[in-house]
Amino acid sequence: MKKEIINNVQDNLNQYGVITETANFGDRSYPMLYGKNVVSKLDLILDIYKFDSKILIITEDKLVSLFKDKIEDSLASRKQDINWLSVSGKEEDKNIDVILNLYQSASELGIDKSSSVIALGGGVIQDMVNYFASTYNRGIKFIQIPTTVLSQADIGIGGCAVNHPAGKSLIGQFYQPILSILDEEFLYSLPESEISSGLAEVINKVVCLGGIHNENIIKDMNDMVSGDYSKLMEYIRLSNKVKREIIENDEIGINGGRLLLDWGHTVTHALERILKYKIGHGFALGIGMVSAANLSVNMDILAKDKSDLLKEIIIAAKLPTTLPKNVSAEDVIKSLDFDQKKLKGDTRFILMKDFGKCFMSESISDESIAKVLEDQIEN
Ligand SMILES: NC(=O)c1ccc[n+]([C@@H]2O[C@H](COP(=O)([O-])OP(=O)(O)OC[C@H]3O[C@@H](n4cnc5c(N)ncnc54)[C@H](O)[C@@H]3O)[C@@H](O)[C@H]2O)c1
Ligand SMILES: [Zn+2]
Repeated sequence: MKKEIINNVQDNLNQYGVITETANFGDRSYPMLYGKNVVSKLDLILDIYKFDSKILIITEDKLVSLFKDKIEDSLASRKQDINWLSVSGKEEDKNIDVILNLYQSASELGIDKSSSVIALGGGVIQDMVNYFASTYNRGIKFIQIPTTVLSQADIGIGGCAVNHPAGKSLIGQFYQPILSILDEEFLYSLPESEISSGLAEVINKVVCLGGIHNENIIKDMNDMVSGDYSKLMEYIRLSNKVKREIIENDEIGINGGRLLLDWGHTVTHALERILKYKIGHGFALGIGMVSAANLSVNMDILAKDKSDLLKEIIIAAKLPTTLPKNVSAEDVIKSLDFDQKKLKGDTRFILMKDFGKCFMSESISDESIAKVLEDQIEN
């Protein structure tokens, strides 16, 4: 995107307390806007982009009653057509069949290459609409408005994926939005469990990958779970900064940099597969990060006080650290067979030397993994 547009967005929105950061992808760079009620400036933003063609807002059924009025108020003075489509937003409906229906509905509404699509919702909606936008008319302009902590902190950058019976997130694309709006006000209606779930990704990126923490980190976690939204936005911003730097250096996974994002996710994905995705991603990630940290300690790579601190941070975010009761160490090891990092049959992990110093391991034996998992069984 033209640098002038990004600068223009920044200059115009600064006065409203909106913080603008740029995701740098050459001519596909785009601004990420953080703040309170940023969405009320959508009209101004669309003017800056000179968008006057049809807009299609895709959201999930549940969010229509929560946010339709808010969005429509901010677009009230626009002359262009504003169209809404809503889908269930359930993980099991994040698939090509639902996207085929979206192509049909969008074409009936006359959405074409000049139109823009807005994704309003959590990670499920963001993934689906990103995929839809990347393929409809060979790609149309796409604006992200994520509405969960997890989607604000993790999904914004770096592509999308939808599910197929042969595998979770099997079908996807690297397609960047033209704008991302990260508005604190959408988070107010989230239950505490969704805040915790999103904090798992925040801990993953900010503390483990970014190495950013201070003596207040435990208090910060407690505050955020209890609804300190401005603090939450600061951490979401840090999370995106860390993810952005990784993806900007390895957008499509060529030099291995991007694989670091898999830190803590090896056992997490195994647990999700075993529990058929009935466990929230962040909850599985709390457990998965503890497994990866303990494995690093057992291999004399990470100091024990660091893994203890990480566990404390995870607990402060009200996330679990032990295996669910109905899952055994053996179940997890079997499920690791499907891990994407597996190389010639060998299980690999992202290990941690220190906060901010993660790296890809060589082959790890089942015995070492079993030892870590057995220690995570609740007594
Ligand atoms: N593409 C990527 O880089 C990437 C990264 C991580 C996760 N993901 C995907 O993201 C999904 C998980 O994201 P998620 O945790 O946001 O899940 P989600 O979209 O299922 O949202 C979680 C729950 O919050 C509800 N919700 C959404 N916004 C709300 C709001 N403002 N107020 C009240 N309730 C609201 C939803 O109805 C849902 O019940 C998974 O499908 C995962 O595969 C993608
Ligand atoms: Zn994750």
